Amino acid sequence: MRSYLLGAVVFALSLANVESIIGGTNTKISNFPFYASIRMYPNKYSCGASIIGKQWVITAAQCVYGLDRRSLFVAVGTDSLNRIGASYAVDRIDIHPYFNRITKANDTALVRLTRNIVFNQNVSSILLASDIISTGKTLVLVGHGATSYPFKNPSSNLTMIVTRSIDIAQCGTILRQKLTKSYLCTLAKSFRGACVGDVGSPLVSRGGSFGSRKLYGVLSLDQSCARGGQPDVYSSITDARPWILRNTGL
Ligand SMILES: *[C@@H]1O[C@H](CO)[C@@H](O)[C@H](O)[C@H]1NC(C)=O
Ligand SMILES: *[C@@H]1O[C@H](CO)[C@@H](O)[C@H](O)[C@H]1NC(C)=O
Ligand SMILES: *[C@@H]1O[C@H](CO)[C@@H](O)[C@H](O)[C@H]1NC(C)=O
Repeated sequence: MRSYLLGAVVFALSLANVESIIGGTNTKISNFPFYASIRMYPNKYSCGASIIGKQWVITAAQCVYGLDRRSLFVAVGTDSLNRIGASYAVDRIDIHPYFNRITKANDTALVRLTRNIVFNQNVSSILLASDIISTGKTLVLVGHGATSYPFKNPSSNLTMIVTRSIDIAQCGTILRQKLTKSYLCTLAKSFRGACVGDVGSPLVSRGGSFGSRKLYGVLSLDQSCARGGQPDVYSSITDARPWILRNTGL
């Protein structure tokens, strides 16, 4: 326990690099064409999501739990909250059967659209990760979360943050919460990280010369708001994969 904590502090200090913003960099949708957002009619941003198949996106269960599918739509192919890009109505919402509203365990939901998504340069699907992530792996979080703390509004531009996976037990120790392998944690440089508005957003591998990008996590707890040393917590795609495949037929 002690050595975990010490390790976490040393890790956090070694990454310390104080910034006045939460550290996102503006990016283009063509860099992350699988990025989608859940919006409320007529056009209120609600959560991030990822395109995982022609007719399917995945988001956090807390984003859609208990909502009428007719009150929301999915926007794709846009890097601005002020533009809709292409919009798709929702046919069905499947909440993970083991989603726990209190602990946010298994915080994933599959959203089936009423028609196939039209893919192009800015719109495509992402592969699902199937491997257990190693500690210290470089990953990328993409979203519209607030860019300053204390937060105000979500960022209207799509932003990306480079972050790194940390050991799940170490993460649980820092957060004083029991975390199992259905979770995944990252810790970015101090004062960088996810914030309100990023829930549901994709955590992906680097891609490019590092291979095809894969979806590793769906952001669940964004309590860090880039307070130094606080990890961001995701539901693990590798762990949810059997359920995803069963429900989507992908
Ligand atoms: C892709 O998005 C960019 C803005 O990031 C836009 O300028 C371009 O027209 C879009 N391309 C397509 C095919 O929609
Ligand atoms: C999450 O779901 C898996 C099944 O996919 C289940 O085995 C596990 O117990 C759940 N985790 C929690 C913490 O409820
Ligand atoms: C958002 O993007 C637009 C166009 O790419 C740019 O002009 C503007 O400065 C960006 N806003 C922020 C807050 O970064």
